[in-house]
Amino acid sequence: MSDGSLLCMLHLLPATRTRDRPDSELTQRQTSILKASPEAIHEAALALRRGGLVAFPTETVYGLGADATNDAAVAAIFAAKNRPQFNPLIVHFADADSAAAAVAFDGRARRLADAFWPGPLTLVLPRRAANGISLLVSAGLETVAVRVPGQPVARALLADAGLPIAAPSANRSFSVSPTTASHVAADLDGRIDLILDDGPCRLGLESTVVDLSTETPTLLRLGGLPVEDIEAVIGTLAAPTGSAPKSPGMLSRHYAPGRPLRLNATAAGPDEALLGFGPQATGATLNLSPRGSLEEAAANFFAMMRELDRGDFAAIAVSPIPQTGLGRAINDRLTRAATPPEEGSLAGATAP
Ligand code: TXA
Ligand code: MG
Repeated sequence: MSDGSLLCMLHLLPATRTRDRPDSELTQRQTSILKASPEAIHEAALALRRGGLVAFPTETVYGLGADATNDAAVAAIFAAKNRPQFNPLIVHFADADSAAAAVAFDGRARRLADAFWPGPLTLVLPRRAANGISLLVSAGLETVAVRVPGQPVARALLADAGLPIAAPSANRSFSVSPTTASHVAADLDGRIDLILDDGPCRLGLESTVVDLSTETPTLLRLGGLPVEDIEAVIGTLAAPTGSAPKSPGMLSRHYAPGRPLRLNATAAGPDEALLGFGPQATGATLNLSPRGSLEEAAANFFAMMRELDRGDFAAIAVSPIPQTGLGRAINDRLTRAATPPEEGSLAGATAP
């Protein structure tokens, strides 16, 4: 397929929030949910090689995977998620050498890959020419976001499929990321071919995204790898500048429950649920971590947001979360989720 026709395809993809779009426009698929046995992983690998859509666990969140070299399969990801046209996808590789064959790796990328891969870190780097990766993955940018995940099922799937796997989080756009197979099914049943179930994700927050395509490394998304750890290896990260959605995950209202959020709350008001943190949050409806562990809070965060969002409350109040380590990534998600929809067009940059 020529670059020109690919860009045309990009423009045909849904441009706005289209949750209301009738499902009849989408190819209906029979979605199987399989426990992640070696046989199930092999079945998933075959489905990917046939151009299918497979949701699989990573240490961060569940991903919605497709063969990153197959334009039609990548386009099907956008359709299943109702993803805005401009939002590029992360490509997952079995190891750093395979990633380095697809993008221009420099010394900084090598040092970060040595320190943190496999793991919850995504690097944005310039595309190599003719690297076989679908242009749709980059959504018109000259870069590709690459990651080597550490979760054993994800690694086995990458090895068995023998393909780079393009995978955004396996939720519908503007819904919170899934940390269990049942979250995936709630959003994508009937829209994808298979869900590999390996229980809850260990970290529960998406990967940290760092842009290395510029002279100064830039933090594009706070995530499962604390910024402090990255800065210890390559020095201070810049905050993104400019108004263009360089990383559209920075759209201010990217992670959104269906009801209002009130942050830094000490108690629930009338009709409010309280999402607590730490031992002092005694009246909490749910507590992210009664012992005050940020790791535990990160792992529980999306599942508890989903649960409270289903409950009989007018709004959700949230205890203060310390602004260190993974707490910064949790506060980032909370601030976005608390942004009223009409302000949710373009992002202010995420301060690192
Ligand atoms: O933990 C994760 O990162 C999960 C698992 C499945 O790997 N994936 C994930 O993907 O969260 P997604 O698509 O939901 O978020 C990817 C983020 C988005 O904010 C996107 O805009 C940004 O990465 N991104 C992807 N490619 C990019 C590129 N070439 N340049 C800048 N930002 C990019
Ligand atoms: Mg996502």
